[in-house]
Amino acid sequence: MPATVVVGTQWGDEGKGKFTDLMAADMDYVVRYQGGHNAGHTLVVDGKQFALQLVPSGVLYPHITPVIGNGVVVDPHVLIAEMEMLAEQGVDCSKLAISGNAHLIMPYHIELDALHERHLGSGKLGTTKRGIGPAYADRSMRLGLRVQDLLDPKIFSEKLDVALNHTNKVLAKVFNRLPLAGEDIVAEYIEVCAPRLAPHIADTAGLLHEALESDKQVLLEGAQATFLDLDHGTYPFVTSSNPTAGGACTGTGIGPRQIDRVMGIAKAYVTRVGSGPFVTELFDDVGDHLVDVGGEFGTNTGRRRRTGWLDLVMLRHAVRLNSLTEIGLTKLDVLDSLAELKVCAAYELDGKRFEHMPYHQTVMHNAKPVYKELEGWQCDLSGVREAKDLPKQAAAYIEMIEAEVGVPVKLVGVGPSREQYVKR
Ligand code: GDP
Ligand code: IMO
Ligand code: MG
Repeated sequence: MPATVVVGTQWGDEGKGKFTDLMAADMDYVVRYQGGHNAGHTLVVDGKQFALQLVPSGVLYPHITPVIGNGVVVDPHVLIAEMEMLAEQGVDCSKLAISGNAHLIMPYHIELDALHERHLGSGKLGTTKRGIGPAYADRSMRLGLRVQDLLDPKIFSEKLDVALNHTNKVLAKVFNRLPLAGEDIVAEYIEVCAPRLAPHIADTAGLLHEALESDKQVLLEGAQATFLDLDHGTYPFVTSSNPTAGGACTGTGIGPRQIDRVMGIAKAYVTRVGSGPFVTELFDDVGDHLVDVGGEFGTNTGRRRRTGWLDLVMLRHAVRLNSLTEIGLTKLDVLDSLAELKVCAAYELDGKRFEHMPYHQTVMHNAKPVYKELEGWQCDLSGVREAKDLPKQAAAYIEMIEAEVGVPVKLVGVGPSREQYVKR
């Protein structure tokens, strides 16, 4: 049975967690394939809210095996705290499998993330300061420590010595900081974290292949989003992994022919946290309205999200980059009270029109949006459960998206709770 990918199509926080949880009802495995605890995925079930960072969004179902794939960077303290938080809420994490090949976020990664940002000054990226970029950088430099190293104290200490030999020089000579002591890190990671995580460390690629061979349903849950992708996003204002659907292969060990369904999650408008270009950004009352009604503050960092109208140039590009087979449109209800809606059909710069993403990012920094205007529905969608009950203006909004990007909208979110959706 081939696997399904869920991927964000904008700059994150589209509501991937909510739709992953919903789709997990029919799955056996839910797998995170990249990113780390820079993610914040919110689920609302029976009035209870869960903000997940590292644990896959299928965890609330007892029938799901949650998996953290090799492409994820794991802060062991955060993972343990999240498992404890879930246990306190009655959620069983005993089946959680963590790839031995996933890389560890180390204390110096967190320190370096903050130092890099401070040194960038006004050019800062606005990272989540969770150590994500430095952890992936060490992975590329072949200086990283992996989850499996927690199982071998000797190897862990040897690799840590090599890493600290480099990193302590950077901390002292570049940033004028005190060096870190290897023994303290060994004490935390090997003595405190390793015993807690050891039962979960597994050959997740092997596990997933066996699952697919025995016709199990596998859902690959992306964190971040297409335009935060290290290769395809608005570089350098991106994260340090590949959220795009190809990352689901490299981040799990599943080959591309084993994926046959890719659900792109799009918010009915666009938000972004942190720096970088944003063609449809709103600086007016409508932007504030979207923040207020949509609750557009970071799930974990609490930062106010920038808001703007839906951008079809981005969505068309996301369809191509991810081979989207369908779209899950979230937060349509947030547009309920607006009399007039706009969507960006193209960008315009110096008399040139761009319906597809311009390859030169300078265009994106300077372009003006070309808007299509649509009539709002001005009624409450939160109780709608059947497509036939959507007001005609809301149906027209959805159909316009389908016609513009050439992919069907299969799920529509009309509120934060698990049951607040319409299937089409
Ligand atoms: P993710 O990172 O893509 O999983 O998204 P987040 O959880 O960071 O942010 C999405 C926010 O919107 C969360 O607070 C969700 O509870 C909420 N949400 C998700 N879908 C809907 C929806 O259809 N309508 C409304 N009003 N809220 C939603
Ligand atoms: P979810 O999975 C929104 C943004 C940060 C910053 C940039 C780089 O909840 O959609 P990083 O800490 O990754 O080095 O920061 O990426 N960012 C996100 N924005 N949602 C996320 O995750 C994000 N993860 C990272 O704000 O601009
Ligand atoms: Mg989020």
